[in-house]
Amino acid sequence: MTGLSIENISMRFDLPNGSHVQALKDVSLHLNPGELLSVLGPSGCGKTTLLNIVAGFLAPTGGRIVLNGHAVRGPDAERGMVFQQGALFEWMNVRDNVSFGPRMAGRRAADYGQEVDHLLDVVGLRDFKEKAIYELSGGMQQRVALARCLANDPDVILMDEPLGALDALTREKMQGLVLKLWKETGKTIILITHSVEEALLLGERLLVMAPRPGRIHTEYRLPFADMGVGQDLREVKKHPEFGQRREEILGMIWDMEEEIMGRAEEAGA
Ligand SMILES: Nc1ncnc2c1ncn2[C@@H]1O[C@H](COP(=O)(O)OP(=O)(O)OP(=O)(O)O)[C@@H](O)[C@H]1O
Ligand SMILES: [Mg+2]
Repeated sequence: MTGLSIENISMRFDLPNGSHVQALKDVSLHLNPGELLSVLGPSGCGKTTLLNIVAGFLAPTGGRIVLNGHAVRGPDAERGMVFQQGALFEWMNVRDNVSFGPRMAGRRAADYGQEVDHLLDVVGLRDFKEKAIYELSGGMQQRVALARCLANDPDVILMDEPLGALDALTREKMQGLVLKLWKETGKTIILITHSVEEALLLGERLLVMAPRPGRIHTEYRLPFADMGVGQDLREVKKHPEFGQRREEILGMIWDMEEEIMGRAEEAGA
C-alpha cells in the first residue's frame, strides 16, 4: 500500500526511579501520498514523540510505521524533518546548507546545482545564497530549513512547530509558503503546532491528541488548506465554519488542560 501507515504505535518511557510514562498508546492512522495532517494537543500528549517515531529517531515499544510498503527502522532521507529553530549549519552559507543532503548522497554539484537554485527561488532566497546563516532573520532561516528538507526530495516531511518562533506577520507569510510548497510538490506532510488557527489553516486533516496516555482524540477533514492555496489566508479565517471549528477545538483542548490541572492538584493534595 502506498502512503504512510502509523500502526498501533505505543511508547512507554521507563524512568530511573522505577515509574514510567505512557507517552503514546495505540495510535493508528493512514496518510495517503500528498496529504497534509496538522496535529494539535496539550503539552505532553506525545506529539513530538510520535513525530520522532515516524522519523525513525525513536523505536516505539509497540506497533510499527510503514511507508510505501516497507517498515521504518531508522532515519532515512525519505522522511525529512524541519525543527522549530536552530537546526541549520551555522558555519555554512545558505546554498551549502540547502545542498547538504545531495552532497552527502554523493551527487555532483553539476547535477544538483540547478535544483538547489530553483528551491532557493521558490522559498524567496534568490539573493541570499551566499549569506551566512547568522545574517538571516528567523523567517529566512526557516525558509532555508524548508528548502534544505526539500532538497533531499523526501516522500514525507515532518515539522515540529516549524513556525512557532516567528512573529505573527512572518508566521502568516510562512503559512502561505507551506501551503504553496505542499500543492507544488505533492509531499505528504505532518505538521505539529500549538496554534489552533494554524492547524485549521494548514491541515487538510487535523488530529487533536489527548494526554495520559497520548492518543488520538478527534480527527477532522477540513476545507481550509485547499481554500488557502488560491486565497488570502485572512479571508479564509473569515469563513463561518472556520470560527466555529476554532471555538470547538479550543474548548476541547481547554477541557483537557483543566483535567490535567485538576489531576495534578489532586496528586499534590
Ligand atoms: N526521553 C524521554 N524520557 C522520558 N519521558 C519522556 C521522554 N520523551 C518524552 N517523554 C514524556 O512523554 C510525554 C510526551 O512528550 P512529548 O515531548 O512527545 O510531548 P508533546 O506533545 O510534544 O509536548 P509539547 O507540546 O510540550 O512539545 C511527556 O510526558 C514527556 O515527559
Ligand atoms: Mg513537542
